[in-house]
Amino acid sequence: MKEQMMKQTEKFVKDKLRNESSGHDWYHIYRVKNLALNIAEKENADHFVCVMAALLHDIADEKIAGTEEEGLKEVKQWLESISVEKSYITHILSIISTMSFKGGNGKEMDSIEGKVVQDADRLDAIGAIGIGRTFAYSGAKGQLMYDPEIPVRETMTKEQYRNERSTAINHFYEKLLKLKHGMNTPYAKKLADDRHAFLENFLEQFFEEWEGRK
Ligand code: ADP
Ligand code: NI
Repeated sequence: MKEQMMKQTEKFVKDKLRNESSGHDWYHIYRVKNLALNIAEKENADHFVCVMAALLHDIADEKIAGTEEEGLKEVKQWLESISVEKSYITHILSIISTMSFKGGNGKEMDSIEGKVVQDADRLDAIGAIGIGRTFAYSGAKGQLMYDPEIPVRETMTKEQYRNERSTAINHFYEKLLKLKHGMNTPYAKKLADDRHAFLENFLEQFFEEWEGRK
């Protein structure tokens, strides 16, 4: 039963995100789902809720749904249409709506499953994958990979975060290097430490090469 629901949901999301170019492509969802399962195993969280919330977490994103409200409605309708139990629907929707607050202004997740899925989403923004996504996003937005004349922004509003010009390298300082401090679960913290170290090594090498020293 649940197996079938997860399969159907996977297909639903895959179809919806097929032509998505806003950094929320299907393979981001695929990785977050696998990470969430992996963390759920270690943290004794409910697998079904974690997988369903991971699969659906970006459907309610403003960039995809128009408004968050519309997106949440669509997710609810989907879950009802495949006969997911009411208490599960409430839980999954609560995770998705809490997660989608942007710019570090998020509320604390109030269930272990919420913590797991949020950790999985944040992990996908760091490490080798995070570096790849950052450069891909920058290219898509027409940002330079680095410009020493554009200062790193210490604080910013949600609008500045979305709309002001930055660079791929600045994004490391404005977001990526901060993520490991926000991890909820012990296992995700461990994974984040490794991915964080990878970012730092990358930056060190980048600046050596930038100055032609290596
Ligand atoms: P999410 O909402 O899942 O945090 P975003 O839509 O903010 O993701 O970003 C998608 C991907 O692009 C992430 O890997 C993120 O780190 C990266 N990204 C977001 N904003 C920028 C930016 N200004 N410059 C470079 N990369 C960015
Ligand atoms: Ni995401």
